[in-house]
Amino acid sequence: MALEIRDIHKHFGPVRASDGVTFVVEDGSLHGILGENGAGKSTLMKILSGFYEADSGEVDLDGEVLDLRSPADAIAAGVGMLHQDPLVFLPFTVLDNFVLGSPGPERLDRSHARSELESVSGELGFRFDPERLVRDLTVGERQQLEITRLMWLGARVMIFDEPTTGISATQRVQLFSTLRSLAEDGLIVLFVSHKLEEVEELCDSVTVIRQGKVVFEASMPVPSEVLVEKMFGKVFVEKDRESAPFGAPVLELSRVTIEEGTTRVEELDLSCAAGEVIGLAGLGGSGQRTLLRVCAGLLNPGSGRLSVDGNVLNKASYRDHLAAGVHYLPAGRLEEGLVEGISIAEHLVLTSDDTGFFVDWNSADEAAQREIDDYSIKGRPSSPAEALSGGNQQRLLLAMIPDDVRLLLLEHPTRGLDVGSAAYMWQRLLERRGDGTAIVFASADLDELLRYSDRIVVFFAGDVFAIRSTAETDGEELGYLIGGKERP
Ligand SMILES: Nc1ncnc2c1ncn2[C@@H]1O[C@H](COP(=O)(O)OP(=O)(O)OP(=O)(O)O)[C@@H](O)[C@H]1O
Ligand SMILES: [Mg+2]
Repeated sequence: MALEIRDIHKHFGPVRASDGVTFVVEDGSLHGILGENGAGKSTLMKILSGFYEADSGEVDLDGEVLDLRSPADAIAAGVGMLHQDPLVFLPFTVLDNFVLGSPGPERLDRSHARSELESVSGELGFRFDPERLVRDLTVGERQQLEITRLMWLGARVMIFDEPTTGISATQRVQLFSTLRSLAEDGLIVLFVSHKLEEVEELCDSVTVIRQGKVVFEASMPVPSEVLVEKMFGKVFVEKDRESAPFGAPVLELSRVTIEEGTTRVEELDLSCAAGEVIGLAGLGGSGQRTLLRVCAGLLNPGSGRLSVDGNVLNKASYRDHLAAGVHYLPAGRLEEGLVEGISIAEHLVLTSDDTGFFVDWNSADEAAQREIDDYSIKGRPSSPAEALSGGNQQRLLLAMIPDDVRLLLLEHPTRGLDVGSAAYMWQRLLERRGDGTAIVFASADLDELLRYSDRIVVFFAGDVFAIRSTAETDGEELGYLIGGKERP
């Protein structure tokens, strides 16, 4: 069996998201699809799985041309996909989810569905409580449920679009072993990523896509420099970061207590000076996000004193924080930061400082075009936010940060960005230090924390566990601290 993709074209307005894509993947292989943000990876995968219809081109499986006019057609033909953006989960149970996804006109009866669920998930080595609500499952468990459902529907080609975004290290190990065993069982597994180390660790072969075209195909291993060069058309040199001189404290927390959900921060003393960068480390849900929300004014501290430039903001609202020069960039791009159906130009107008009553749309479009050029966003002033690729949404959020920010709060600022975009994003952020901006950011990436922070605050189990100067720590020590242990 082989999957043959022949001369696929797909455009969105002037953007050629797929521009004559052709390649072949053999069965039993774990095949990596690499490419920078906006390269056209998700578009191609959505075509293979019937979510988008190609303008032209053909896909063959086992020598037969596939009918891919809808996701149902695709799965009937044996192609299933796990999407990059987590689907919206309604208040369904695990079993409901299974029943609703069953093919054919008749609904499957529940007891039959239950035994099918048990046997298919058992073969895959997963365990589910059929009566649990899907929204209570972790991202990793939802993926397992979706894999189970697709296998049960007879998938022979399985597509994973950036499946490691937002899952823990343990879940990643589990996911990778699942992907390997699917390939060993003779499936074709397509693994989409812009993370080199994941493709190097996992894949047997790779296709690199740039600007909608296949630019490189090879069996692994391939030297990293070669892959980077193929992805971006250039090689990046990492420059050692220079610290900026610090000014007066901007953010000051004194004996601050925070309670929210499982987070219990006790009497935290922390300040962040003008020009300083503080990184927040910890496993997801350890309290980092809660601290950012407190600093942003979305949640008030239980007790203690919180001030920005000396203004006490203990009981202040989000608006008061904005007025004090606080800007918060959340992780959930579309959910919290951008609005569906609203264009790039409209977003920039909504966040611009000159808030006259009438909007001059011609000049708004010109201003938007300048930001688009400045931040290399792949899109037009009229593009709606949801039409941008993940990385380009992130760039738009960056363009929306006002110039005169005092305290910048960032949650996973480079999650979902390729190496080039992440380096670019940090370069732009660090420029702000010269204007006396203080930066506090949360990240799950130890390299990013070590590279860009002056100090690192480690969270564990809902409280601050340790605070280290970056110059005096390393990745190994952070690993221990994140796990709630001092280095022996
Ligand atoms: N529904 C859409 N409407 C308009 N343009 C779109 C749409 N979907 C994708 N595009 C554009 O097509 C190009 C390719 O996007 P795609 O999502 O395939 O990139 P990607 O390689 O998956 O990037 P990322 O790593 O950021 O997820 C981008 O320029 C994007 O803005
Ligand atoms: Mg994508």
